Amino acid sequence: MSSKKLNIYERLELLLDKGSFVELDKHVKHRCTNFGMENKRIEGDGVVSGYGKIDGRIVFVYGFDFSVLGGSLSAANAKKIAKVQDMALRSGAPIIGLNDSGGARIQEGVESLTGFAEIFRRNVMSSGVIPQISAIMGPCAGGSCYSPALTDFILMVNEESQMFVTGPNVVKQVTNEDCDKETLGGAMVHASESGVCHLVSDNDEDCIMTIRELVGFLPSNNMEDAPVHPATDDVLRSCHELDQVVPANPNLPYDIKNIIEPICDQQYFFEIQPDFAKNIVVGFGRMAGRTVGFVANQPNYLAGAIDIDASDKAARFIQFCDCFNIPLVAIEDVPGFLPGVKQEHMGIIRHGAKIVYAFAEATVPKVTLITRKAYGGAYIVMNSKQIGADFNLAYPSAEIAVMGAKGAVSILYRKESAEQQEARIKEYEEQFANPYCAAELGYIDDIIEPADTRKAIIKALEACRNKSLSNPPKKHGNAPM
Ligand code: HXC
Repeated sequence: MSSKKLNIYERLELLLDKGSFVELDKHVKHRCTNFGMENKRIEGDGVVSGYGKIDGRIVFVYGFDFSVLGGSLSAANAKKIAKVQDMALRSGAPIIGLNDSGGARIQEGVESLTGFAEIFRRNVMSSGVIPQISAIMGPCAGGSCYSPALTDFILMVNEESQMFVTGPNVVKQVTNEDCDKETLGGAMVHASESGVCHLVSDNDEDCIMTIRELVGFLPSNNMEDAPVHPATDDVLRSCHELDQVVPANPNLPYDIKNIIEPICDQQYFFEIQPDFAKNIVVGFGRMAGRTVGFVANQPNYLAGAIDIDASDKAARFIQFCDCFNIPLVAIEDVPGFLPGVKQEHMGIIRHGAKIVYAFAEATVPKVTLITRKAYGGAYIVMNSKQIGADFNLAYPSAEIAVMGAKGAVSILYRKESAEQQEARIKEYEEQFANPYCAAELGYIDDIIEPADTRKAIIKALEACRNKSLSNPPKKHGNAPM
């Protein structure tokens, strides 16, 4: 694949099924006469909009042409975007924006600002009704970042696209910080540090193919289910490769993706935000041909402890899946919330509450598998039975307790000798380092062997596929933010 920046028509041609693109409003021109703008009236005004198909399913699209006045947003091209947003919402079809824009057109003043307001309001009204996907395919500033931020997924092209509220020149003027576009808001910055970006691609083609793939996992709207693929992978397939994944020593890490991948159809897992908050893994896979959303602690990173970024990442993904009827599978190996002054002061209480809220509010089928540690508050929030999971499974290696043995003994028996404490640790481990206490109480529905994970989860999802649950009527909840 080449790394050439494509023009907007080339991008749309790649994005949509061959010959399916229908352009709208290509004769629209702006009406601004400030700063000699009457001499810069170009057909389409730097935005291309319309509709087409991805794998035979209708999607609405718009994209900016950076070569026309820096892809800036005018009142006229804002109207074009708002028109396809309205059509997408009315038609119950996803909307995809290909952004490459310097933000509000400076020459138009408040006219261009109102254009963004129109777009933002539609982003919000479409939220949870139709999937909204934003690709960032060039430098994007101001409103051209905030509209994507209101959508469900942001994709960026590495070393070609940037996002910032204000560019490097303004940053220098206001804070005297030196930065360039890439260090301020490049793809890797947003994929690994800010968490703004969900997926990074190497070039335009790759980015567009990723959008097509993402759309394939999603329903067209909140009243539909995601497309069902023929289940060509045996639903009863045993996964003996899982027998050795969880180390016998509870202090050793392992890669939770070695559990997720083998249980997915064709062993394929489409990870979202792979570079951000690596202590939690989220993404889509298919089981028995149907889309599933996975939320899993990652023992390989910070021992899987839940911190602020992990909470934000997981909560938003859970919320997305619930909006769009995608069943959730939580895979749990978590020693707790990450302790520390910084975490407390930055608000781990407020952020951690988001996962509780999202799991508890979700009415889609919810299955939990505990592979090893399920300690403390993290046990509760990772889709425990009382938070509302439909099926709770555990491996024989699961440990369900308020905390690990050492920590518990150091609190309860701190005055005892080291020898006595050793004995207490053993006693505690015998009592709690297993899933049987929880299973005895019915909080774990079944204890399964790792090799049976795929079939056990598929059966559980099948059993609750037609689950019908609604939350109490309300305008909307007051989720922690
Ligand atoms: C009009 C613009 C423009 C804009 C760029 N251009 N942004 N014209 N309105 N917002 C024009 C440039 O003048 C230039 O024209 C051409 O587009 C290419 O821009 P360059 O600066 O040469 O490109 P580059 O070096 O790649 O830098 C891209 C950029 C920078 C980082 C985006 O142009 C920039 O900082 N632009 C302003 C960003 C901004 O502050 N926008 C308003 C945000 S407020 P010529 O004729 O020279 O080729 C906003 C309101 C909503 O959006 C806020 C919501 C929170």
